Amino acid sequence: MDDPKLVEDIVHALDIEGGSTERRPVHTIGVGATGVFEASPVAKNYCTAAHFQPSKKPLDVAVRFSNGMGLVEEHDGWSDVRGMAVRFKLSDDRATDLISMTLPVFFAPTPDTFLQFALAARPKECHRETPWQKICDFLKLQLPMPDPYPGQETRPNEGATEFADKHAYAQPAVLQASIIGAPVSYVRASYHAVHTFIVTAPDGTDRWVRFNWQPIAGVLNTNPLEPPVDIYLKEDLEKRLAAGIERFSLMMTIGETGDDFDDPTKQWPPHRKRVMMGLLTLKEVPEDQQTHCEDLSFNPWLLTDGIRASEDPVLKIRKQVYEFSSNRRGGIPCPFSRTEG
Ligand code: HEM
Repeated sequence: MDDPKLVEDIVHALDIEGGSTERRPVHTIGVGATGVFEASPVAKNYCTAAHFQPSKKPLDVAVRFSNGMGLVEEHDGWSDVRGMAVRFKLSDDRATDLISMTLPVFFAPTPDTFLQFALAARPKECHRETPWQKICDFLKLQLPMPDPYPGQETRPNEGATEFADKHAYAQPAVLQASIIGAPVSYVRASYHAVHTFIVTAPDGTDRWVRFNWQPIAGVLNTNPLEPPVDIYLKEDLEKRLAAGIERFSLMMTIGETGDDFDDPTKQWPPHRKRVMMGLLTLKEVPEDQQTHCEDLSFNPWLLTDGIRASEDPVLKIRKQVYEFSSNRRGGIPCPFSRTEG
């Protein structure tokens, strides 16, 4: 897929007041960490990719955790999708990326419908609903709009909900995003790569799979009844990694006949086979966050032999969208980049 106009339109639709074209238009606030990844003993039976092979030395990884919103001002305590982008350093001149977020599904099935969604969900003025409006929402089997946070004047919720009312495909993601909350720590959330990828086993068998990271520390959100704290997630990670390590399991869910492989708005049934592919150990929050966080440019198309992209059209357009955005903000192009497609 090569549609520079659509790519540009999408990125501009993500630009909002309070954001900056010199930063990422979404996932603007983040923190970089470093660590290692070790493949599980069974991983090699499912995928020939280098990071899933047994190795005497664990692979170095660079991780960037982020708040999903496109605001330059930090609001860690607000309900929001969070991101976890991981770069596996396969050798001196090769790497592969896995980008994930706390929603298990996406808002739209194609780039065009995502553009419509992004335009509809641009932040609008928000007000506190009266108790009577909230009762009416419940009677209509609708979730009442959350009260705006202190100082919050605009938000995407109203536009996103209106869009989801008219477009059923957006409903699972919009509903989950509206109740997602704020994690007590970036290492107390689970993250989903959402799209389907195709992994090749040593005997040549292809499997259609989805990846997710599960925190060993467990999932925990802040108490939504307490006033939100604006800034705590970076400091929390620094403190945790100064005191020890934090871990995530990389899980791979295997799709079956009838599952949707090319539509990121469709969740697979929960009883699909899952394989533990490896363990990520976070060790440090480097002091130089410009190099280890802000300048990084991840791309879901930085793949490696043994893993390829599905035909998902949203995954396809992300290749150019991320390149465009990275160039615009002056991100450092990935030195290992051999993105295909
Ligand atoms: C058409 C769909 C999508 C569009 C247009 C889009 C757009 C973008 C853009 C423009 C950036 C900034 C890139 C940069 O400047 O380096 C970004 C970052 C990010 N996106 Fe997406 N995105 C899409 C889908 C997704 C999905 C499905 C996920 C989760 C699986 C995701 C997770 C993230 C994360 C975690 C980051 C931050 C990466 C970092 O830390 O550098 N996005 N996205």
